[in-house]
Amino acid sequence: MRTQVGIVGAGPAGLLLSHLLHRAGIGSVVLECRSREYVEHRVRAGVLEQGSVDLLRRSGLGERLDREGLRHEGIELRFGGAAHRIAMTELTGRAITVYGQQEVVKDLIAARTAAGGELRFEVSDVRLDGLDSDAPVIRFRHQGRDEELHCDFVAGCDGSHGVSRASVPAGELTEYDRSYPFAWLGILAAAAPATEELIYAHHDRGFALYSMRSPEISRLYLQVEPEADLADWPDERIWAELRTRLETVPGWTLNTGPILEKSVTGMRSLVVEPMRWRRLFLAGDAVHIVPPTGAKGMNLALADVTLLGDAFAAWYRDGRDDLLDSYSDTALRRVWRAQHFSWWMTSLLHRLNTDDPYEARLQLSTLRYLASSRAYATSLAENYVGLPEV
Ligand code: FAD
Ligand code: PHB
Repeated sequence: MRTQVGIVGAGPAGLLLSHLLHRAGIGSVVLECRSREYVEHRVRAGVLEQGSVDLLRRSGLGERLDREGLRHEGIELRFGGAAHRIAMTELTGRAITVYGQQEVVKDLIAARTAAGGELRFEVSDVRLDGLDSDAPVIRFRHQGRDEELHCDFVAGCDGSHGVSRASVPAGELTEYDRSYPFAWLGILAAAAPATEELIYAHHDRGFALYSMRSPEISRLYLQVEPEADLADWPDERIWAELRTRLETVPGWTLNTGPILEKSVTGMRSLVVEPMRWRRLFLAGDAVHIVPPTGAKGMNLALADVTLLGDAFAAWYRDGRDDLLDSYSDTALRRVWRAQHFSWWMTSLLHRLNTDDPYEARLQLSTLRYLASSRAYATSLAENYVGLPEV
């Protein structure tokens, strides 16, 4: 098999890249180790920045998003027994849209399939060869056969556990990372959201987040121990803990309902530089990870491949390599802004260290400052809705 750009991974990054390349008249093949069913139902991110929504609309993917996405003009910070609204749109003129990552993935797969795009699901044993030549080859197994995909470039969009980054020789890339001593337990529940806007709650027992997917479905998260075992978290315990951390405002109660899905996610910050090695271009979680507190991961993945799509278009259409050469530096500016914001939100809202009341005092002081200063609240808001240029 031969194509122009071989793409590893059918998450938001790989699928949007394939879509953008198609719109620019460039061929690609997407290789994904999971089934279509699996990637279309994997519950993950939910918040799209204004820029991501604009981009999806511009690329012809706005129809269902406009119909089903929930536009939010503010978020709530809940701490010290009170609720404080950050009026994002009033402060920045921009908004976010709540629309599940798996819906973005479904829309992208539908668009690629309708256009006759080649997506291979359930491939295994993916190996990248010849990345330092003009003719890279991706070898893999599919439906019991060994296959070879010859291409001009490889886009490594295979997430945090993928093979692409690991295919770069040792010593060529530099990693910057941070780990956090906690994880998130997330649930999806058949319960009408008890709030119109997301609630980020600071509590002595740890952070909690109230989000949603639709007028019937709530998405909630609890800070838990990094090695938390779901077996220790029966539904009643989850709801009791959510009540303790969220029902701190007089008269406010959360709605409960059957839990449809639950999982524990570790928290990590990671950037790998540069985001390119020879003919391999890395994008999304394959090359940077943020803790979910800032709601940035999917947005960064989409922003990376937008740059990459333009860079490949300039190469194939005009024979220019300047955008391919500047891809990593340009993308890293946004990546590092999101790294800082995600780290800052995480440090502000989680129970950091049980033995250090000083830290908790600093958090409360910062939260009070956010609630009282338009300047500080604007800084949070503009990062949260996404900065157009960084
Ligand atoms: P992925 O979505 O991980 O896609 C990579 C794909 O590559 C996967 O389909 C994988 O199966 C495939 N793959 C892996 N290895 C191979 C291989 N060897 N061969 C072939 N295919 C392979 N982000 C936000 O912006 N907002 C949020 O609100 C938010 N909340 C989150 C909440 C949680 C609980 C979690 C876990 C994440 C959250 N994120 C959020 C982060 C977001 O989900 C990720 O940043 C996003 O999925 C990155 O997209 P991606 O395409 O780079 O990687
Ligand atoms: C979600 O809805 O899944 C979500 C929302 C905000 C976050 C993280 C996750 O910061």
